[in-house]
Amino acid sequence: MKPISPTAAAVQLRQLSRSRPTLALVLGSGFHHAPARMAIERRIPYAKLSGFPPVGVSGHTGELILGRLSGTSVIVMSGRAHFYEGHPMERVTFAIRALAEFGIQDLLLTNAAGGVNRNFRPGDFMVLSDHINFMGVNPLRGSDAGSPLLQRFVDLTQVYDPKLSALLHRAGRAARVKLRRGVYLAVSGPTYETPAEVRAYARLGADAVGMSTVSEAIVARQCGLRVAALSCITNLAAGLGSSPLSHAEVLATAGRVKAVGANLLENFSKLYSPTRPEGKITK
Ligand code: HPA
Repeated sequence: MKPISPTAAAVQLRQLSRSRPTLALVLGSGFHHAPARMAIERRIPYAKLSGFPPVGVSGHTGELILGRLSGTSVIVMSGRAHFYEGHPMERVTFAIRALAEFGIQDLLLTNAAGGVNRNFRPGDFMVLSDHINFMGVNPLRGSDAGSPLLQRFVDLTQVYDPKLSALLHRAGRAARVKLRRGVYLAVSGPTYETPAEVRAYARLGADAVGMSTVSEAIVARQCGLRVAALSCITNLAAGLGSSPLSHAEVLATAGRVKAVGANLLENFSKLYSPTRPEGKITK
């Protein structure tokens, strides 16, 4: 079977909308309220775009939303494919490649995460300073590293762009939200961690643990996108709180702070201005 190409999906996207945003937002739990603040120009269900994944997690619609957020033209991914759903990495990261081909320069990834840092509380927000890929796979693994034109040995010294991250902190100050800063450790899931794993991850330098974002960030860097990422700390990681973990708790916290998450994205979009693309990291 011929593999479905991100370029073909980008062509479809260009045919379906006249918007040409340079900023893309990927919405995780806690950030799902942002579209309610948008002047929406077009909604495109993933099912209309070849190669886009079906979305299995509740709370997200599985569509691209084009429009303006605080006056800035954006494309929003409402829903993402997770590795724990059984998708190969190629599919988990397909949309990022398609967005890069579409002309996106800057990517803000958001997610829900468990707080590993003992100072964090449910409902906090954390700007990612770096990550630890503990998923057991790398999305660039393969005979052509996901793309015959792009580099395989991608430098990850600075995955999360300092300028975009500074914008997130400014967005936090404008929203009067104290943003945390820290290292996100990605696991494959879908189980939550054991307390022993959480203690180990803390010793490794993790501040939060989650099941997404890292593979998308890696592929985005390969494509030459500037990346920033923001976690909504929905729960204390296993063993740090008094109750067992549940998806219901994650969704409850995400629901409680959804207005804060939307404010942060709104302020970020307002402060954002496109920069000259640094170009793809080609071979
Ligand atoms: N662990 C992993 N992923 C998560 C968690 C967690 O505690 N909370 C939200 N996503």
